[in-house]
Amino acid sequence: MSPSKNATPISAAAMGSPLGRVDAREKVTGRATYAFENDAQFEKKPLYLWLVTSTTAKGRVREIDASAALEHPGVTAVLDHVTAPRMADTDNSELAILQDDRISYYGQIVALVLAETIEAAREGARLTVVHQDEEKAVLTADEAELYTPTKDAVGAEPDTEEGDVDAALAEAEVVVDKQYSTPYEQNNPLEPHAASAVFADGVLEMWDSTQGVHGVASALAPMLGLSETQIRVQAPYVGGGFGSKGVPHPPEMAVALAAVWADGRPVKLAVTRQQMYSLTGYRTATKSHIRLGARADGRITALDVLATVESAAAKEFIEHAAKPARMMYAGANRRTRHRVAELDVAIPSWLRAPGEMPAIFALEVAMDELAEATGIDPVELRILNDPEIDPETGKPFASRRLVECLRRGAESFGWSQGRPEPRSTLEGDWWVGTGVASSTYPANFFPGNSARVTALEGGRYNVAIGAADIGTGSRTALLQIAADALEVPVEDVDLAIADSSLPTATVAGGSSGTGSWGTAIVQAAQQFRADHGDHPVPGELTTSTTEAYPDMDKYSMHSFGAAFAEVRVHRLTGEIRVPRLTGVYSVGRVINPVTARSQLLGALIMAQSAALYEEAYRDTRTGHFVTQDLASYHVAAHADIGDLHVEWLDDVDERATPMGSRGIGEIGNVGASAAIVNAAYHATGVRVRDLPATPENFL
Ligand code: MOS
Repeated sequence: MSPSKNATPISAAAMGSPLGRVDAREKVTGRATYAFENDAQFEKKPLYLWLVTSTTAKGRVREIDASAALEHPGVTAVLDHVTAPRMADTDNSELAILQDDRISYYGQIVALVLAETIEAAREGARLTVVHQDEEKAVLTADEAELYTPTKDAVGAEPDTEEGDVDAALAEAEVVVDKQYSTPYEQNNPLEPHAASAVFADGVLEMWDSTQGVHGVASALAPMLGLSETQIRVQAPYVGGGFGSKGVPHPPEMAVALAAVWADGRPVKLAVTRQQMYSLTGYRTATKSHIRLGARADGRITALDVLATVESAAAKEFIEHAAKPARMMYAGANRRTRHRVAELDVAIPSWLRAPGEMPAIFALEVAMDELAEATGIDPVELRILNDPEIDPETGKPFASRRLVECLRRGAESFGWSQGRPEPRSTLEGDWWVGTGVASSTYPANFFPGNSARVTALEGGRYNVAIGAADIGTGSRTALLQIAADALEVPVEDVDLAIADSSLPTATVAGGSSGTGSWGTAIVQAAQQFRADHGDHPVPGELTTSTTEAYPDMDKYSMHSFGAAFAEVRVHRLTGEIRVPRLTGVYSVGRVINPVTARSQLLGALIMAQSAALYEEAYRDTRTGHFVTQDLASYHVAAHADIGDLHVEWLDDVDERATPMGSRGIGEIGNVGASAAIVNAAYHATGVRVRDLPATPENFL
């Protein structure tokens, strides 16, 4: 059943308490089974899968010569575009692997090797000879014709214009007119993508490392000609996603297709880190041309953002890098545009605050430049331009506490004690500086989530929803939400998640998970009480599905924050260090302060990582990423990180969810990179506009 009434706010008893992760023991003792570790579930010994990939950006497979591979004693089969099972539906061009001979990017799957051992599978892949006919490929944005993406692809209007931007810029007393860029970035969750699957009696059972089991099931089933009841996807433990496991990618389909072929034999695949770089998404490079016009007193009169991103011919994905600037600051004349270069390259996808991260990086460095040009303190400049209503939609903000975050951060960080001039503090051989930036992230709420509450013996309850916990702590937070909604202690709730045979859940993405799933749980619990009272008979149950929240259309809903950084740059080597990074956030009610703190700390680390280290390089002849490991693509490690400090405002946003919470996963990764780069400017007088800010910038 699906009541049309939405959940009403619940009060916090369990919520807000620092409950330890309920799956911590399984994880630290190694008993947690990840997607590659489910052999105990199988009746038969699994076949190991290895992916054979294209070595040209564009063309056709002429022939896959598997003769040498098949002579290997351990190799069972080599499936290619001729011999692989046919799909019922090939509309999803990313997932329709081995259905034709077309090669659309370097690193695309062109054959699957199945073998009795992982070593034999890998050797079989090495022995498989791929004959390709190459075609001329477009591999750099310079060669491509830029196009304007559709509203559907952007998730918002691609272009907006209000007032007369050019006239306002011409009349402005101060103008900042600069280009900013972010590089290709690779997700790099600790656990590479992996899946195992068995197809028996017409049912495909799959264990996948994914951010959404229902998303995988609903994408794969129709392509394989299976009904919803003929597929079951589980993801009990996931070693991080960072966006790359948000939608199914070709490796998952490879496992499913091979399992269908193997009919009864389980199939397992662990994607190598190298293969992840072409097969599981990445953040495209972004360029932002920003023009800010202002009066001498710092009030913004014109905002012009032109974001240029890249997409793939194989499948369109648009990084919405112009959109986030629309709601950030006041100013009457505004224009924002997205332009896209379509290339014959691997398919980009979500990565750690897609759109928001590059957009707010560019805007917040531009704001620092405006602060300098007007001689106004960067914190005060942001406060001065804080809008009354959302300038993008004209709607009131459900909650906008950016100013409080800035003021509290300034206090806590020591900013309010005043700052010296840029390039004026040298301590030993280190230039020292401080920087600030605003953060924001939309309060994404996805309707269509279902939860089921079932009465158990002894006054206990089972609460079920197919949500995924990719390491964030959502399993723990949902338990707290369920306990409060049922008004019982957390010990009295059994929570079942991460299984597509449970009620439908949307993706653990866009910082939407806990809020969207939690709302379904609250609604189901309240409906359960209405249906069955406080003393239900064991076995009584209620399932309930969420609809769009009535307030969603009335208000503009976002979280806000402020990041402050202290940076030291070595005067001789350009080495850059971040001894202190502080973030203050307004994110609604914090459901679990332990896991929330970890989310915000982790995201600040990602922000430092993006600011200073992460950069993937492409071979411009093939479009292939040449950064192929964690040595050539550095992700911030322990030694890189100084003192991190996070705080949040005492906040309850009942317009956002009945828990009063908003998402917390990504906001820490928005803005903080700009705070670091702004601090590096303050330290050295060198303005970096292109990430990452590597040492050579400061020599
Ligand atoms: Mo997250 S990058 O929205 O999956």
